[in-house]
Amino acid sequence: MLTESWLLSTVLVALLLLAAPIAFAAEAPKAEPFGETADGVAVSEYTLTNPNGMVAKLITRGATLRELHVPDAKGNLADVVLGFDDVAGYESEGNQYFGTTTGRVANRVAKGKFTLNGKEYSLATNNDPNHLHGGGPRSLDKVVWNAEPFGTDNGQGVTFTYTSPDGEEGYPGNLAMAVTYTLTNNNDLRIDYKATTDQATPVNLTHHSYFNLSGAGSSTVLDHELMLNADRYTPTDETLIPTGKLAPVSGTPLDFTKPTVVSERIDELVSTPALGYDHNYVLNKKGDELALAAKLRDPSSGRTMSVLTTEPGVQFYTGNFLMDQKGKGGKAYPKRSALCLETQHFPDSVNQPTFPSVILNPGQTYRQTCIYRFGSE
Ligand code: GLA
Repeated sequence: MLTESWLLSTVLVALLLLAAPIAFAAEAPKAEPFGETADGVAVSEYTLTNPNGMVAKLITRGATLRELHVPDAKGNLADVVLGFDDVAGYESEGNQYFGTTTGRVANRVAKGKFTLNGKEYSLATNNDPNHLHGGGPRSLDKVVWNAEPFGTDNGQGVTFTYTSPDGEEGYPGNLAMAVTYTLTNNNDLRIDYKATTDQATPVNLTHHSYFNLSGAGSSTVLDHELMLNADRYTPTDETLIPTGKLAPVSGTPLDFTKPTVVSERIDELVSTPALGYDHNYVLNKKGDELALAAKLRDPSSGRTMSVLTTEPGVQFYTGNFLMDQKGKGGKAYPKRSALCLETQHFPDSVNQPTFPSVILNPGQTYRQTCIYRFGSE
């Protein structure tokens, strides 16, 4: 009798142990309707949560992060990214790539031109005189992506997929992309990028969230402390196209190698073409290892955000072109009320032979990862 019940309980424990990973796997988030685009395409929203109270809302238009609720040391949540309450907001002039997936080639391409395998290509010059963030009406931030939600034992996520047809926005090749967002149980928002092509083509995807760790709609981000793991940056001409040189940050207002308050030296940059910080930093790292690029801290809430990436660069942008547009909950977003840390290859790489290449060839797989890791100190 004793042996029997012992056997039974052993079997039960074994079964429970086997079932544990399944029992603890998060559920896949469900799609909710989020209105439709001006041309009648339905947009869906997915809400990801984790056990620490974090919430991330993602919409299929632009594979966009729309809300990101992050706890401070006391557990108070704030939504730390800029965004809009509806699709019309995202389609308005006020949308400066808020939270979007950006490409096919993020950042600038000089005069919207490049030559690949002997052929010249022309792209939209939507940031006169240059091409910016993939161009016109079919850039990746504006198209509606397919979505596949999932749950794992380490969090919830959504994989967005989109195949950009050959010639779309002037780029060669059918480019099949997958962008996977995962909100993990340890407060990482992880973004994994994957792409393949049937013709050689430039690819440089990034994520364009505007962060304010006090909460979106707080008046400024100038009080945040920033560390950038970069000894060098790519100096530019007056249209923000790199000269091709890599210059030291040491002795300039661009030096964030030690944690520094954003406001400390920004005044030295206001009369430059960038109007503040809008610079690509060359990260201190080897190859495509996943490494720390930046750490941001808001002294008022204590919230921190570390940025890790497989990319060689990060564009640090202090929202110099924000224009008081009204976002979520009717809150205005004035100049410098948020900042972007866009991990990517260097601007205009397609025209700069000494920069790491952005060309993807048939048979190769493009893979990049960016992690926004939240904490409090
Ligand atoms: C990037 C650019 C900025 C600006 C924003 C969007 O960060 O570097 O100059 O164009 O996108 O407004």
